[in-house]
Amino acid sequence: MGILVARTRHELKTKIAALRSTIEEAGVRATVGFVPTMGALHDGHATLVRKSSKDNSITVVSIFVNPKQFGPQEDFAKYPRTFEADCALCEKAGAQIVFAPTADELYPADFKTQVNVSEMSDVLCGAYRPDHFAGVCTVVLLLLNCVSADRAYFGLKDFQQFTIIARMAADLDHPTCIMGVPTVRDGDGFALSSRNRYLDDGARKSALCIPRALRAAGHCFLDGNSDSQTVLAAALEILSSESGFELQYCEIRNAKNLSLCNDKITQDSVLAIAGFVQGGDGVRTRLIDNIVLTHEPDRLETLLDFVRQGANQQ
Ligand code: PAJ
Repeated sequence: MGILVARTRHELKTKIAALRSTIEEAGVRATVGFVPTMGALHDGHATLVRKSSKDNSITVVSIFVNPKQFGPQEDFAKYPRTFEADCALCEKAGAQIVFAPTADELYPADFKTQVNVSEMSDVLCGAYRPDHFAGVCTVVLLLLNCVSADRAYFGLKDFQQFTIIARMAADLDHPTCIMGVPTVRDGDGFALSSRNRYLDDGARKSALCIPRALRAAGHCFLDGNSDSQTVLAAALEILSSESGFELQYCEIRNAKNLSLCNDKITQDSVLAIAGFVQGGDGVRTRLIDNIVLTHEPDRLETLLDFVRQGANQQ
């Protein structure tokens, strides 16, 4: 049949309603899963789409490079746009509809609203990217309202984004259930990202200090160290020995409310890293990654897999 493309909210609602009524004719309730993206899709996105299409009868993927979440010096203009390939990936991963609105469709000239989740948006990436999370929350709430999905899927690769969106949805009593999906990584542990296309071989090699640092910290935690400074030191030792990497932050925070974890790692915590690598052409790329430090059985499995993956490579 080919994937359906909706360019306006009206088209989107009509297409969802048509698919829903075909499914419900058979007497089953149709559920809708939603995966918001900015395109330049890779296997990390595909994993979210596959999870949605496993859980739901209809999956909608939005592709929209949201101008409101980029700072004036950031890469909005050069952000990769690969629409045809993105549609093919969505279809292969099991989606039925791609929603690809224009900026005018989502933000008409008289648009005035900004959605802000306080405190959590000011730390980690938010400390260096003012207004970024307000831009993310505004578009995500708008998209959630356009799609009216049962479930929406977000990657834990952008841990702060996931936590803030989950907080927003809970605070505003949004009916869509917010689902988190573990980070998809290359064989060497490097997290997949649309921005990896900016990296040349040298920059990619330098950037490998990020998963190595996360693994070292993960090991240290699993060895029984619960002192946050000790676990941080294990990560920082690796990051500081890579001359091609410029650290922006490396912090341990509470995984639910993002408050700083200064001494003992008692509940679920997240160790988050951001920094820059530079290509041969002098262009700097900002990268982020994280691991959840936990003893909670479901999430512990993800941590153990990641740490073991490193052991297999040595
Ligand atoms: P984008 O960077 O395109 O990411 C879309 C979704 O894919 C996000 O939920 C992100 O966390 C997830 N994702 C990216 N790389 C991943 C990986 N390696 N493993 C698992 N999930 C991964 O995040 C955004 O777009 C935007 O901020 C958006 C939420 C669409 C709002 O504009």
